[in-house]
Amino acid sequence: MSVGIDYQSGFANEFASEAIAGTLPVGQNSPQRVAHGLYAEQLSGTAFTAPRHANRRSWLYRIRPAAMHQPFEPLAHSTFHNRFDEAAATPNQLRWDPLPMPTQPTDFVDGLVTIAGNGGAAEQAGVGIHVYAANRSMEGRFFYDADGELLIVPQQGRLRLATELGVLEIEPQEIAVIPRGVRFRVELPDGAARGYVCENFGAQLRLPELGPIGSNCLANARDFLTPVAAWEDVEGDFRLVAKFQGGLWQAAIGHSPLDVVAWHGNYAPYKYDLRRFNTIGSISVDHPDPSIFTVLTSASDTPGTANMDFAIFPPRWLVAQHTFRPPWFHRNVASEFMGLIAGVYDAKAEGFVPGGASLHNCMSGHGPDAATFEKASNADLSKPDVIGGTMAFMFETRKVIRPTRQALESPQLQKNYHECWQGIRKHFAP
Ligand SMILES: [Fe+2]
Repeated sequence: MSVGIDYQSGFANEFASEAIAGTLPVGQNSPQRVAHGLYAEQLSGTAFTAPRHANRRSWLYRIRPAAMHQPFEPLAHSTFHNRFDEAAATPNQLRWDPLPMPTQPTDFVDGLVTIAGNGGAAEQAGVGIHVYAANRSMEGRFFYDADGELLIVPQQGRLRLATELGVLEIEPQEIAVIPRGVRFRVELPDGAARGYVCENFGAQLRLPELGPIGSNCLANARDFLTPVAAWEDVEGDFRLVAKFQGGLWQAAIGHSPLDVVAWHGNYAPYKYDLRRFNTIGSISVDHPDPSIFTVLTSASDTPGTANMDFAIFPPRWLVAQHTFRPPWFHRNVASEFMGLIAGVYDAKAEGFVPGGASLHNCMSGHGPDAATFEKASNADLSKPDVIGGTMAFMFETRKVIRPTRQALESPQLQKNYHECWQGIRKHFAP
């Protein structure tokens, strides 16, 4: 936890925070006059009538209401969009090297590049998958995404996320989720920063059910941290950038929208340290399906079939006996976008590097490369293996993940990825 930044613990709690004591009204949400001359404003993240267990909203007490800005005009952005139908989706296995760091001054919004996605804001389902590479803090502008919540996965450099509901700071191996509509500014304490963003158009991320696992493990609710209220009272010639129905819009605004003095509710940004994930695995034979690594899930309208799962492959012990210990060869009805935050992923001896990405779509065969297969097939299973110093992740979706044209034409696309399986030997001996 960063010095000077306070958080509240828990996942989607009914939080309450006031930067000036006595600001929150008692026994009601919208008094005739709010303390300290503030405006009351509700921010709803679900339908008013969503079931209680799924209902998310917060009440904000702010210096000026969110309605106060000039009209929006379209804002051009050459690489950040939701056009997932501009190139034919391919059944080929795809892998990319990391996006290079920019050479020109580039903030978080400028530095977003859309790699792939499915669905969209209009259908309220699917995801946009983006990477960012930036080298300067957002100055004089603020951003919100009306199309989806943003799951931010840094790979290099810390991010300081100044939001309407308070400040979060995350470093690689931590994640943050910014709810749909929440306005924020990204500052880069380390200068250069790179990472991944999943823009979730569907149901809000929540913790997976635990079933027979019981009441603990995987990502524990108390390890999720939500900021405390923090306001700024700043006036100037600023811009508010909105992502709306797949495109960007920009409006002039004469003040910082990060002016919320107090808030309460369960619709708020949060962060989580992936190193706190309590990993579950086999202590006999084989290993469970990778759903056992789910950190957060976005439900679809079909029970048990997620719009998107966010899973991680963290450091862990492998102890299974008479078992091929790395991930098995597989084909999957779901589609899998992977990224690597640190270290080496245990199914790939080389070629998948931190900051890179891979995409294995519906029913495309994949699995360990030839070198990993030979090594694991001959490993001594009398001793446990430890997978250390690594953190890979996956955005897994029920719909095919369609790469964008810029991703397919990118110089970072590895033309020889398929070769990692060409050295697989025939061992068949009837
Ligand atoms: Fe897979």
